[in-house]
Amino acid sequence: MGIAVEHLRKDHEQIYASLHMMKHIFINSGTYLLNHSNDIARCIRFLSVFAAMCHNGKEDIILKNYLEIDGIATDGDDLIGIIREHRLIDACLKRIQDSFPKNPFHYLPPRFIGSMVNYFALVKNHMEREEAVLFPMIDDMFSTMEQEALSTSFHEHEKSILEIKGNETVKSDMERMIGAFR
Ligand SMILES: [Fe+2]
Ligand SMILES: [Fe+2]
Repeated sequence: MGIAVEHLRKDHEQIYASLHMMKHIFINSGTYLLNHSNDIARCIRFLSVFAAMCHNGKEDIILKNYLEIDGIATDGDDLIGIIREHRLIDACLKRIQDSFPKNPFHYLPPRFIGSMVNYFALVKNHMEREEAVLFPMIDDMFSTMEQEALSTSFHEHEKSILEIKGNETVKSDMERMIGAFR
């Protein structure tokens, strides 16, 4: 497995772990938000900053450019179709953000719970498809040097998102939560 694929696969692992932990929080909190409000808010922040902006950005902006420049994929391709699923996932995440109650004494509304269930299914399916189709293709098509260049661009992209004020602790907060949950 090349270094760029390994980079994306590690991101997926972290996203899977965060989804697994969120399910656990849900099962324990039921629909009543009190005591779990901060944990759920932190998870939504991780999904927005790390999953949507950092990880999807690496595939959406950097990888897609490489694929198109090399003439490997064009707009009508299945490969680009997988990457385009990010738009559906983003729309679902927006519904989650919009329906999350600000007041911890409120119950979680059905729209929030429905969007969350939808998000779990969409993201899991999407990442499994990438691992089955997209990642092996990257390994086949890109040389070691190209994968190194891709991986460097991935790191730079992630750094540029995580150094924005308010985002600095998103990844470490989630790692701590996952550690505590295990
Ligand atoms: Fe993706
Ligand atoms: Fe991905």
